[in-house]
Amino acid sequence: SIAYVNGSFVPLSDAKVSILDRGFLFADGIYEVSAVLDGKLVDNASHLARLERSVGEIKLKLPETVERITELQKELIARNKVENGLVYLQVTRGADKGRDFAFPKGDVKSSLVMFTSEKDIINAASAKTGINVITVPDIRWERRDIKSVALLAQVLAKQAAAEAGAGEAWMLEDGYVTEGGSSSAFILTKDDVIVTRKNSNAILPGCTRKAVVALAEERQLRVEERSFTVAEALAAKEAFATSASLFVQPVVAIDGKKIGDGKPGPMATRLREIYVEFAK
Ligand code: PDD
Repeated sequence: SIAYVNGSFVPLSDAKVSILDRGFLFADGIYEVSAVLDGKLVDNASHLARLERSVGEIKLKLPETVERITELQKELIARNKVENGLVYLQVTRGADKGRDFAFPKGDVKSSLVMFTSEKDIINAASAKTGINVITVPDIRWERRDIKSVALLAQVLAKQAAAEAGAGEAWMLEDGYVTEGGSSSAFILTKDDVIVTRKNSNAILPGCTRKAVVALAEERQLRVEERSFTVAEALAAKEAFATSASLFVQPVVAIDGKKIGDGKPGPMATRLREIYVEFAK
């Protein structure tokens, strides 16, 4: 497949950046993942708005306008003939002359790379079976609202999940679930309230989370943005996760303990259908 690297479309195997790139040396960069459904980007304006916010928070200047980045994403999707999948994009503070922690001086340009992958999100088997999650301590830094490429805590969390045969890790802080390793966490309480943690520096403001909350509220479903514990999740009717690469994904067990009857629940299934309609 074809990748985009700093102004050029090249075969993925030839797509390279310098070993002095600050993304490589310091994880000094920001990323976004947008879904592609039937050849079209899903909720992409929301992802690019978050990109602008993230780069602003770390004082990184985008090398292209958001309008140009959108065109580049579309061109890459067209070149790779992606019908259903994902577009990954990453911007870093570029490659300086050496390894200096402080920002490069002068005209070092930020680096922008993109690639695509195929994924049939709608027909994913896990949507029908649900996934198990494990819990791990949230060992990340205090600015999780920034979509930084520094993902070592999530790499370790998701590896632990993979080794346990689970589909995601829910991260815990002060007894509460923050979010999943790469997804937002939700529960449906016994009295049918959809609960997901309030946005703050403690979590990434998920684009899918935002859309699902709005779609649910439009339908007069009850939504509360507040923290919840694992005990509350285990006592809940349902649990689910949201992300660009999962849409709405039912969660059926936590640390080996079933939620409800251990099957995807009607609310998660309904919200998934509503989100797919919105995404189309
Ligand atoms: N992850 N929380 C975290 C920590 C995430 O990394 C993600 C996204 C989300 C969900 O955000 P959104 O709905 O905007 O995709 C929540 C992407 C998909 C990833 O790292 O692959």
